[in-house]
Amino acid sequence: MIITIDGPAGSGKSATAELLAQRLNIPHLDTGAMYRAVALKALQNGISEANPDQNRIAQLAEHIDLDFDWSTHPARILLDKCDVSNDIRKPEVTAIVHLPADNKIVRAELVRQQRLIAAHAGSLVTEGRDQGTLVFPDADYKFYLDADIKERTRRRLAELTDKGIAADPDALLADMQARDQRDKSRGVGALLLAGDAIVLDTTALTLPQVVDAMVKIIGSRKNG
Ligand code: DC
Repeated sequence: MIITIDGPAGSGKSATAELLAQRLNIPHLDTGAMYRAVALKALQNGISEANPDQNRIAQLAEHIDLDFDWSTHPARILLDKCDVSNDIRKPEVTAIVHLPADNKIVRAELVRQQRLIAAHAGSLVTEGRDQGTLVFPDADYKFYLDADIKERTRRRLAELTDKGIAADPDALLADMQARDQRDKSRGVGALLLAGDAIVLDTTALTLPQVVDAMVKIIGSRKNG
């Protein structure tokens, strides 16, 4: 059983996917973490906003040693055998992750790896931007999470505050708008609503409420 969850930044995909996967006792794949790992590798190799060498980024992605440790919840992501689960969340990685996300060769390689992971796992909750549209068009269940941009910004601010990182709310809102624009207008792998996806607006919902709604939908379709 493949369950895809797509949606914009801050819509609650990761937390929802993790909890849903736990409830169903199947693995959770965070595909954003894969783009972030390529961005981290790029940073380590001198790539920056000022030096956005897309050929080099493609080369790095094609030879990347990327793995997941599924023995923990959430799974840990390993780059060159090192656990980089925390490093990939750093602001400097977030700032340049659009470079690998915009690169067609990187996307082709990561899509290939995502399909391989699904083939090995058999059942998977996978989240990102293009999971239900491009990577798994035949998924059993497709969800699209959305939320008001002000609420998504508030959640991002709370996450950063939790980690002890100070942030300016206005700058975060502007950043969120820029990310939405990039995610929706990307030439390949853009954030689109699949025709057969179920849309859940999470603006006024708690995490357990969203997951309960999903479990109910999955249960009713299975039994129906
Ligand atoms: O979900 P996230 O913020 O961790 O994703 C990081 C970046 O990767 C984000 O800029 C969008 C991009 N991404 C993508 O293009 N396709 C995916 N399937 C997942 C993430």
